[in-house]
Amino acid sequence: MKIIYKRQTTMKVAQFSRIGFIMAAAGSAVGLGNIWKFPYMTGEYGGGAFVLVYLITITFVGFSVMVAEMLVGALGRLDTVGSFEKLAPPNQKGWKYAGFMGFNGLIIMTFYSVVIGWIFYYLFEIFSGLPIQTDQAKAAFDALVGEKAGIQIFWHTVAVIIVGYIVHKGIKGGIEKFNLILMPTLLLILFGMLAYAMTLDGFSKAWDFMFASDWSKINSEAIVRAVGHSFFTLSLGMGAIMTYAASLPKNASITKTAFIVTFMDTLIALVAGLVIYSFLFHEGAPAAQGPGLVFISLPVVLSNFGTLGTVLALLFFLALAFAGLTSAISLVEPVVQYLIDRFGWTRHKAVIFSSLLYWLVGIGALLSYTKAWGALFSIGGKPLFDILEYTTDSILLPLGGLLIAIFVGYILQKERVYAALEHEMGEKYFNVWRFSIRYIAPIALVFMMLNLMGILNI
Ligand code: PFF
Repeated sequence: MKIIYKRQTTMKVAQFSRIGFIMAAAGSAVGLGNIWKFPYMTGEYGGGAFVLVYLITITFVGFSVMVAEMLVGALGRLDTVGSFEKLAPPNQKGWKYAGFMGFNGLIIMTFYSVVIGWIFYYLFEIFSGLPIQTDQAKAAFDALVGEKAGIQIFWHTVAVIIVGYIVHKGIKGGIEKFNLILMPTLLLILFGMLAYAMTLDGFSKAWDFMFASDWSKINSEAIVRAVGHSFFTLSLGMGAIMTYAASLPKNASITKTAFIVTFMDTLIALVAGLVIYSFLFHEGAPAAQGPGLVFISLPVVLSNFGTLGTVLALLFFLALAFAGLTSAISLVEPVVQYLIDRFGWTRHKAVIFSSLLYWLVGIGALLSYTKAWGALFSIGGKPLFDILEYTTDSILLPLGGLLIAIFVGYILQKERVYAALEHEMGEKYFNVWRFSIRYIAPIALVFMMLNLMGILNI
């Protein structure tokens, strides 16, 4: 069957401005993964050693894969399936199936949007006062997640509609515009909070907790989670960055952009961790709290700061909402672009179709945490929510990363890759990057997967 790419033939591809692309890619990377997940995972896995594994993976694997992913998008200039197919040599067109990694975004959105819904709910709850005791805060969070299915469905739906609205506005008028507003605001709030956190005596404890590596606490599960999270936080392995890069302005440097995005993403995760733990340790609260960390412990801690605490809580949840939304749009866009490119759908239709899909499964995910419906929406005793999260973060994204590394490292003609990147990196760094994408990234990822399957157990 001959495939017709509508965008190539009938439409002019919209392009980001250079700063618009950086903000959109950074907006995708900086998300709930940085502000909600990274701090609580660091707590769960004991602090410094987990942070170190995360930093090592980002430096040696994440950055190289990000360059590779941007490269496929920038050279292909189509949706993920189209780009893989277009760039693969004639006898290896089966690589187009790797492009279906774009659909992982919708799987992630099933739970991501539920969490954005919780954040919206908290933004309004803050006005009725912060909880004073942990028991009270925990009871409130447990009641929301375990009992208030209707309220969760409402806020989940609000999140789906807002994300759908932005994506439907397209690359320039929606994605670029919103990122250019939300990202700088988010940075301002977080760094403002950091400045304040630095004045607290909990700050030095938070610093030690995050940067003093205690290897006795690390185990193979922690390593798998740290590697998986590095991919999640950088938005790698599912074609989000690739899809955005299809609209990369011609004069933008892939290497520079990938570096800025990786750096910003890492910095923001570390800042978020420092801010949260400074507040926590200031009040003598323990570190290991799980996913409720920002919803249970943080509001209680902030309630001790009086009115200032309410303002801080409001700003914090606002930053969290902004971070979540700018990532969410990048999770939906790959599928939307695929539907537009391949089937000639209008953006409107593509957005409605994909939103409905993840909205529906998202309801199953949130019900899986409720007392009334939990059993029905669990498999083998595991709630659907956890299954969706674990499958994407620890299996599908690293698998997507592996495919990208192999494709760029071995399948794409070296001359083509060289022509695209050498003038940005210079010969020496190009060779270092290529070594990383051909050897370090695949070995690290295969190693992680073997560990995950329990075949290897370090
Ligand atoms: N990077 C986002 C975060 O840290 O929250 C999540 C994410 C967005 C993952 C886009 C994957 C993706 F393609």
